[in-house]
Amino acid sequence: MTDDLYAIIELNSFQDELMKNVLITGGAGFIGSNFIHFLQKERSDLILYNLDNLTYAGNLDNLKDLPNPNSYHLFPGDICHEDLVDKIFFENQIDTVVHFAAESHVDRSIQNPLKFMRTNVIGTTILLNTALKHWMNNKDTENKIYRFHHISTDEVYGSLTPEDHPFTEKTPYSPNSPYAASKAASDLLVRSYFQTYHLPITITNCSNNYGPYQFPEKLIPLFIQNAIQGKSLPVYGDGKQIRDWLYVQDHCEAILKVLELGKSGETYNIGGNNQPFNLEIIQTICSILDELLPGSDYIPHYQLVKFVADRPGHDRRYAMDINKIKHELGWQPKESLSSGLRKTVEWYLNNSQWVETVIKRPDYQDWLRKNYANREGDKK
Ligand code: NAD
Ligand code: DAU
Repeated sequence: MTDDLYAIIELNSFQDELMKNVLITGGAGFIGSNFIHFLQKERSDLILYNLDNLTYAGNLDNLKDLPNPNSYHLFPGDICHEDLVDKIFFENQIDTVVHFAAESHVDRSIQNPLKFMRTNVIGTTILLNTALKHWMNNKDTENKIYRFHHISTDEVYGSLTPEDHPFTEKTPYSPNSPYAASKAASDLLVRSYFQTYHLPITITNCSNNYGPYQFPEKLIPLFIQNAIQGKSLPVYGDGKQIRDWLYVQDHCEAILKVLELGKSGETYNIGGNNQPFNLEIIQTICSILDELLPGSDYIPHYQLVKFVADRPGHDRRYAMDINKIKHELGWQPKESLSSGLRKTVEWYLNNSQWVETVIKRPDYQDWLRKNYANREGDKK
């Protein structure tokens, strides 16, 4: 337990009951599963309930070998299923929600926006309503500390020009994809439950994560996989887009900081403090593979790069100003981009069984055909 946490417990021990029963939504996905592993190591006092309906992105293999399986419970189900959410709150006296569940892939949102509205907007509203019903105006539990923590993205802020200051918590929302618009709507709903009903909430807006267990539809795991197999690396547009990359473990640490020390009603930006062009990330991944797979037929792996048609509405640049969380809560990223990328490539090489299982699935192969078939040809 951290010193900060001991201080809070001391401060509150006479009057308030701290978090104990934590509902994690989307805990079988990339960040959610990393967070469950992380929380079990850092806070073995907590009981974790994972509500996840195991879409294509949810994978129970991500949750094998948990350090503390007796204090982890899975509810395979949909956050839009009101009765189920209500039952979970009631039967397990949920006092904390960490809400990851979402449709999370921008390209899929361009092909099927409605799905994103359902889970990201309606699903979030159902969770908020349920928390409100169970937590507010309850005399039996008035000394209990509750928290609804919403996990969101930097994409709600839109796109930066090269000269713009990085996004701060005060940057106006300007989402450009259906995914980003659905996350923006969910953020505003969470905020409104604080303003209107005083529901204790916090929001974090985070930049691009990478690391173990990321589904290979996103840039880094897809390119690692394609490069290993000698398949082309489909770079959208000119590859000079900029993302702010954060190792997933750092994100998990930031979320715990906000749960323990964050102020109700506040938003905190989280980012990795590094903003390379996509082509630089791809170059680094290829160089690591050249080194780790000296017998590969595809060296230099960078030769596999192929410029393809751009993503519609493609945001050019993201960058996060993380001064608020750094100065108010004492969090900053620990992993450098080069060490994080190396760990990630090694993880995918050492977990080929995990990857095999995912990429063999017909729905994944369908997705690749759907997304990449019409981008063929060099379209730099
Ligand atoms: P992911 O797509 O890997 O996982 C999403 C999880 O949610 C899956 O396990 C899926 O089964 C579950 N889910 C989807 N719809 C559901 C529903 N209706 N009911 C219950 N469960 C459902 O996503 P991720 O990359 O781990 O992202 C998690 C959260 O973090 C999302 O809210 C996303 O917007 C946000 N975020 C992601 C990143 C990133 O770089 N990946 C960065 C910033 C914020
Ligand atoms: O910024 C945070 C967001 O990061 C999260 O909110 C999203 O959930 C997460 O998916 C991620 O969104 P991006 O669209 O930035 O991630 P993605 O990995 O899809 O793409 C990263 C960059 O790489 C982007 O500029 C598009 C580009 N790209 C992506 C793919 C899949 C390619 O050039 N080729 C590809 O095949």
